[in-house]
Order: sequence, then C-alpha cells, then structure tokens
Amino acid sequence: MQEIEKIKKRFEDEILTVMASEIKELEIKYLGRKGMIAVFFQEIKNVPEGKKRKFGQDVNELKAYIEEIIKARLEEIKSQENLKSLEKDKIDVTMTGLRLSNGAPNIITQTIREVEDIFVSMGFDVMTGPEIESDYYNFEALNIPEYHPARDMQDTFYLAQKMLLRTQTSPIQIRTMETYKPPIRMIATGRCFRRDAADSSHFPIFHQIEGLVVDKKVSFANLKGTLSEFAKRMFGKNSRIRFSPSYFPFVEPGAETAISCVMCGGKGCPVCKYSGWLEMGGSGMVHPNVLRNVSIEPEEYQGFAFGWGIERIAMVKYEIPDIRMFYQNDLRFLRQFK
Ligand code: PHE
Repeated sequence: MQEIEKIKKRFEDEILTVMASEIKELEIKYLGRKGMIAVFFQEIKNVPEGKKRKFGQDVNELKAYIEEIIKARLEEIKSQENLKSLEKDKIDVTMTGLRLSNGAPNIITQTIREVEDIFVSMGFDVMTGPEIESDYYNFEALNIPEYHPARDMQDTFYLAQKMLLRTQTSPIQIRTMETYKPPIRMIATGRCFRRDAADSSHFPIFHQIEGLVVDKKVSFANLKGTLSEFAKRMFGKNSRIRFSPSYFPFVEPGAETAISCVMCGGKGCPVCKYSGWLEMGGSGMVHPNVLRNVSIEPEEYQGFAFGWGIERIAMVKYEIPDIRMFYQNDLRFLRQFK
C-alpha cells in the first residue's frame, strides 16, 4: 500500500518536470505492458488474503488517476503548440503591401477605342476583317485589277493561293456590303501591311480606321459633315477638315483629307511644315463599280468611304514625332500613355 502511495508521488513529480517530447515515454513507464502498474497487478497474488481486495482497488484507482493526468497533460501541450503556431503565423494586416505594377493598353489600342467610341456614338457599327486577305477583297473588288498601277503604291507580302497581308482596311467595305443590305453605317479598324521602308512616317506594319456609309441620297456633304464632327471630337472643337482632289480606284470623286494643324490652328508652324494642315488619309464617294461588285444598284444607292491612319491620328494628338516609336517597345515611351 505504501508502495502505491510512493509511485503516485513519484509520478506527480515527474509529470511536472517532464518535457513535452518525453510524455509518451512516461506513459509507457507507468502504464505500459511492463510498466509499474503492470508490476502491481502481478503482485496481487502475493498480497495476503483480506487485503487483496483493497490493494486491487488502489492499483486500479492509481491507474485511472495516471491515465487521466497524462491525457490532460497531452491536451495542454497540444493547445500550447497551437498557440505557438498561431503566434508564428500571425500577420500584420496594417502593414503596407507590395504594390503590383499593372499594365495598360498600348497607345494604338487606346486610340482605336477612342475613335470607335466617337463613331459608335454617331450610330456606326464596328466591323472586323482578316489580316490575311485575298487578292479579290484587297484589290480586285475595290476596282483595282491586277494590271492597275495603283497596286504599286500598295506592294505587300504575298502568300500562296492569291492570299496576301492586307494593305488597307478597305476590303472590310466589301465584306460588309456582301453581308449586310443598305443602309450601312460602319467603321473598321485594324492592322495593315505594306512593303515600305521604315522612316519617320512609314512602317511596314500600321493601323487604319475605315468608314463606310451606304444609303439612298448619300452625298459628299455627309462625308464632310461626318469627318468634321469626328475631327472636332478627336482633336478639339476648333478642328477643321480640308479635302483636296486625289485618286483611289474605289472612290469617285476621291480626296485626300487633312485636319487643321493641332499645333498652330492653321497659321503655319514646323509641325505642319508651314502649310497649316496635317494629312490624315483618303476619302471619297464609293465608286459605282464597287457597288456593282457587291450587287448594290448604283442608281439607287450611293455611299461615302474614308480611311485614316491610326498611328497618324495618335502622332498628331499626342505629339509623337516618329512612327517607329510605336514599334520599338521602349518602356519609357509606352509608360507615358498609362
Ligand atoms: N484605303 C485607302 C488607303 O489605304 C484610303 C481610302 C479609304 C481612300 C477609303 C478612300 C476611301 O490609302
């Protein structure tokens, strides 16, 4: 009986000083198959009759006691470990974070969106066409047959089976008129390609915005009104439009279109080379042959069309001196338009 008391005391001392990692060992030492409690159970047979019962009870009690304490201690250790790991994983939510640098649409994309917004607000639909185009859509249907000298100015990259990289967005005029019946009011923007040597105003890749209106009683005045309104919204309310006679096989009459110089307002300065005007692209009334090519009756319908350079628009609006800057991907250039 005294032994039992002694073991109990010893256990109580040990449980207080034992390290978390040793607690399993302690459990084996007392409760294991060859542990101290087991020894007591073996001893029962040597205890004098009459005390056996009490001895057995005491051993059982001690066993239950030790089990309970060890269990409690294990739980305590576990919750302390949880606390510690909570402490370790703690984050300061008030700390300033790392700023992620986010990108921005390229200035050409931004310009295209601006142009589209203006024309959409005037009731135009936005169309698209493929960059790899057929000879038929890019030239033939636009009244530029194979032998025509106008092809010289638009030499391009030719692929197999009379396919080519489109030199202009005008083929989208044909695609639109083949698909939709008049009245048509559309613009199309996109990348174009020409076999041009690069200089400050030429690059083999560039973008255009095409416009086409086909309806009954469409006149040159509508063309002028549309482009004047666009110029005012894009470049400022004092912006004016100038037409000068020019030749494109798919329009008649055809005109070169310029806007009044955004720098000097038309008085003359180095930017407009003292002319007061900045060239933007071509325009004109849709040629009857083009309408016939898409089975629209020229006696009944007329149309106007225009094609301006997107880079040209951006260069004038944002004072970009050289078209090659768009394609060098110099971050110092690109970041200015974030
Ligand atoms: N597509 C012509 C070009 O690239 C421009 C243009 C478009 C002219 C529409 C007239 C009408 O030069």
